[in-house]
Amino acid sequence: MDAFVIQGKAHLSGSVLVNGSKNAALPQMAAALLTAEPVTITDAPRLSDLASMGQLLEELGCDVEEAGRASPNTGGVKNGYAGTAEPASHRSVGRRLRIQTVDETATHARYEIVRTMRASISVLGPLLARRGVARVSMPGGCAIGDRPVDLHLRGLVAMGADINLCSGDITATAPVGAGGRRRLKGARIFLGGPFGSTVLGTANIMSAATLAEGTTVIENAACEPEVQDLGRMLTAMGARIEGAGTPRIVIEGVEELGGVDHRVMPDRIEAGTFMMIGAITNSQITIENCPLDALMAVTDRLERIGVKITVREPGWVDPMRVRCDVTCDRTLNPVEMTTQPYPGFPTDLQAQLLALLTIAEGNSVVTEKIFPERFLHVAELTRMGASAFRQGPTVVVSGVRRLVGAPVMASDLRASACLVMAGLAAEGETIVRRVYHLDRGYERMDLALRDMGAEIERIDDRDLERREEEAVAASTARIHSALAG
Ligand code: EPU
Repeated sequence: MDAFVIQGKAHLSGSVLVNGSKNAALPQMAAALLTAEPVTITDAPRLSDLASMGQLLEELGCDVEEAGRASPNTGGVKNGYAGTAEPASHRSVGRRLRIQTVDETATHARYEIVRTMRASISVLGPLLARRGVARVSMPGGCAIGDRPVDLHLRGLVAMGADINLCSGDITATAPVGAGGRRRLKGARIFLGGPFGSTVLGTANIMSAATLAEGTTVIENAACEPEVQDLGRMLTAMGARIEGAGTPRIVIEGVEELGGVDHRVMPDRIEAGTFMMIGAITNSQITIENCPLDALMAVTDRLERIGVKITVREPGWVDPMRVRCDVTCDRTLNPVEMTTQPYPGFPTDLQAQLLALLTIAEGNSVVTEKIFPERFLHVAELTRMGASAFRQGPTVVVSGVRRLVGAPVMASDLRASACLVMAGLAAEGETIVRRVYHLDRGYERMDLALRDMGAEIERIDDRDLERREEEAVAASTARIHSALAG
């Protein structure tokens, strides 16, 4: 297992190119199950979650391969990084992933894969819509809390599916329609739960409805830009969808979908994380391929904190692919923030904002309304000198003058990013263990940070132990010689 060793008090400069979105790409890969024609996803990030989805799709009868790299300026997309050099090899902008279904007999998404990646549930809708049956292992909870899938299932039941739980697997069968073919039926579906709508649930139902008989109306659909991006991709495949990205999506089922070459949107969470890295290190950095249009709630909070975000070349750029400068003078103001469904402040940036607020001048209040238990990073930040007090879904952070480096443990993807941020700002050395969590959602963040001047080293856990033993031996020797002298 890898760990990061970070020398703090970093001052960064230079630029970072934002990769394609993990959370957009995952359900888009699953949507390849809806057609026998090839589906190409450009800008697919090189992340372990996408590799798991690729493996799952292969088990389900798809050929999945890298299809070379597109030039950043192909695909008719005018983008904010036009004219710059080729992306660094650890950035995957331009990477093309080609998926084609070659065998439609398999229908089982096994526990061994689903347990490594919850987004595997995204294959349920497409499998059921195209193959008439599906068996998908029920995802369990994870470090950020309980994550039920009842809304996904409720939607599919409304579309006529027969759903059962068998040996920990969800088994689903579509009703027999005209001509004896198993086919879901259009329905009116309300996708609201105690914490609002569901992002992957909306993706699942919207994908399934593209091949259903009749019209499906999803009320209280998730409005996240990733849902909108999936809607664009499905429409390009021949689906008839209106309203993706709004709370009411109407889908007119069609008989067949075709292939597509789709460029995935840039990752708004990666972009937001780099903005906050710039802020916590009191640096000026440039973020390229930044989906600023999808980050309004985040830039609003950051500007209140004292972070300046300036768009370069305004006027002609695609607002989802801009180049912007992030500057911060270090006098950070405290803020209140509550996570909300889009367009509110995303839960996936809560941990990173919390890291930033640890060094603000005053008291900040952060409330988590999507995953109320998503606070495992608070105790680790406290180990680095942060002053934070949690009560239920709310954390009060009293800004401190400085953080101090310490060994800390990453518990989930975004918590890892928060600890890396704290390590970059702290005095001394920070060791972040279990960075495999980070690697699920940030492609080689260590290299991107090193390019901007950070002192960060990726090290194998075993080497870390050896280093620690050597340090203990050296200090013991020092004590012995002092006592002897
Ligand atoms: N919920 C239910 N019932 C359901 C589904 C969800 O009650 O059937 C609840 C959840 O427990 C949660 C809320 O509804 O309280 C929202 O969950 P949602 O279903 O929207 O989450 P998700 O679709 O499983 C995606 C992202 C998460 C992100 C959330 C919220 C992907 C692959 N994952 O998960 O991303 O936090 O939406 O925006 O798209 C991450 O990238 O670090 C990450 C966790």
